[in-house]
Amino acid sequence: MYDPQRPNRSKPRRLAAWLFAMLSVSSAAYAAPSALPGEADAGTTQWRPALHYTPQRNWMNDPNGLVFYKGLYHLFYQYNPEGNAWGNMSWGHATSHDLLHWSEQPVAMRANDTEEIFSGSIVVDEHNTSGLGTANSSPLIALYTSAYKAGSGHRPGTQAQSLAYSTDDGKTWRQYARNPVLTLNPESKNFRDPKVSWYAPGGYWLMTTVVADAQVVKMYRSNNLIDWDFLSDFSLPGIPHQGALWEMPDLFPLPLDGDSRQQKWVMIVNVNPWSIAGGSGAMYFVGRFDGRTFTPENVAPPGSDPSRYQWLDHGADYYAAGTFANAPDGKAVTIGWMSNWDYAERIPTTPWKGAMALPRVLALKTVDGVPQLTFEPVLQYESLVGVGSTTRIKELSVSSRVRELGQLTRGVVQNIEVTLSPHSAERAGLVVRGSANGDVGTRIFYDTTNQTLTLDRSMSGETGFSNAISKQHIVNLPLVNGKLHLTVVVDRNSVEVFAGHGRTVITDLVFPSAHDNRVSVFADGGTATFSDMTITHLVAAN
Ligand code: FRU
Repeated sequence: MYDPQRPNRSKPRRLAAWLFAMLSVSSAAYAAPSALPGEADAGTTQWRPALHYTPQRNWMNDPNGLVFYKGLYHLFYQYNPEGNAWGNMSWGHATSHDLLHWSEQPVAMRANDTEEIFSGSIVVDEHNTSGLGTANSSPLIALYTSAYKAGSGHRPGTQAQSLAYSTDDGKTWRQYARNPVLTLNPESKNFRDPKVSWYAPGGYWLMTTVVADAQVVKMYRSNNLIDWDFLSDFSLPGIPHQGALWEMPDLFPLPLDGDSRQQKWVMIVNVNPWSIAGGSGAMYFVGRFDGRTFTPENVAPPGSDPSRYQWLDHGADYYAAGTFANAPDGKAVTIGWMSNWDYAERIPTTPWKGAMALPRVLALKTVDGVPQLTFEPVLQYESLVGVGSTTRIKELSVSSRVRELGQLTRGVVQNIEVTLSPHSAERAGLVVRGSANGDVGTRIFYDTTNQTLTLDRSMSGETGFSNAISKQHIVNLPLVNGKLHLTVVVDRNSVEVFAGHGRTVITDLVFPSAHDNRVSVFADGGTATFSDMTITHLVAAN
């Protein structure tokens, strides 16, 4: 995102956005409860997620410093402590025991007169390789990007990697005295987003970082997290997306098909714009890593369009995704920012802007002869679903019509499971967050001719706040024995569709009113069957 030349950050566009925002205030605020006299305005509560993390107030973007330590998950994030727009970038902080119920903590690191604190990561320096720990406590070490301002001793706008450490389990942070620990020569305006992990086979720390506008991941190694040596670059031949930025890289191993002898490496590269759903998105590559060089396998030929690449999510709102350090059982657990730089700054939520997608577990499976990531909500989410009140529908066939489900299924925070058999229908699926008259609703449907799954948010409530908000997100997905399993996570401001038992996810923000709470099933041009359907109301996690 951060690029002085970014078109949507230019002054005229911002002015237009501001004017537009002022004009659209009446419509954006129509469903918001009005504040009682003498009470602070709670803002757009109808869009405050119940299951997804949001800060109480102000702007949030990328997840940073994801680490599991002493039984707590830490989520740090790009945060503006001063306002509800991108700026004064600092690290906000929240903690959780289960990745679903989060407690907001004091701001961990603040922008100051000479630098902003851009994205980065945290590791547990168990053996005190940095020497920054104390006799009783291993330090937590954060590597982050210093985005320099005038007076910093660096050319304003340049970026370098800095270190901060905590000896009180992540509560307070001290910046290392001799920052930055890694810079380019000459200094770059796009050198950022260090993600650090322990490379066990070599016995050293590994850092991936990017020169965002050169579309390159740069890898380094270190014995002490302070002195870094260059290893190699990862880029693509004939870069398919000139002008796009590469941001927030992450490199980690996963067993293929659950077989620990068949280990592969996954490289996540967040790319903006040029994503599969338009704007920003999370791309990944699977390959080999020998301690120095990452070699991807099955890369699309130069000149391919985004559909030939692999994506963590096929919706518009999943960016800056990375994995937790030290996650239990060595699992790859991710959190993504549920937004898109195409319109993130215009989203009409107050007094906060920005939410995190549901935490997911990644695994690697061979599908159609190619290793691919699979995605499931974290296990703790199942416990949440397990305690909700549920309507069960064993089997329901629908012929060329929309059928609204019973009153008990109405809700705005719910989990829906269904096995869809489209049979003779041309299209068949669900409508969630539907209005009484059918004018509003988010449609999730299978197209049998094209063998695609679509999330259509063209009628999902407010969309007028930005003309960059894309409407339909489509993914190729063959049926298995004529069926498709869907898990749909509905929240006040989002719909996430996990399809085909983890094969693909579509995540989109939606902006319906609180009254749009109906669930329907439908089939066009034929008959479809919905089996083993459960609609479960979820109790707010936040
Ligand atoms: C990604 C990003 C990072 C940068 C941060 C600034 O969304 O642009 O590259 O460090 O946001 O907030």
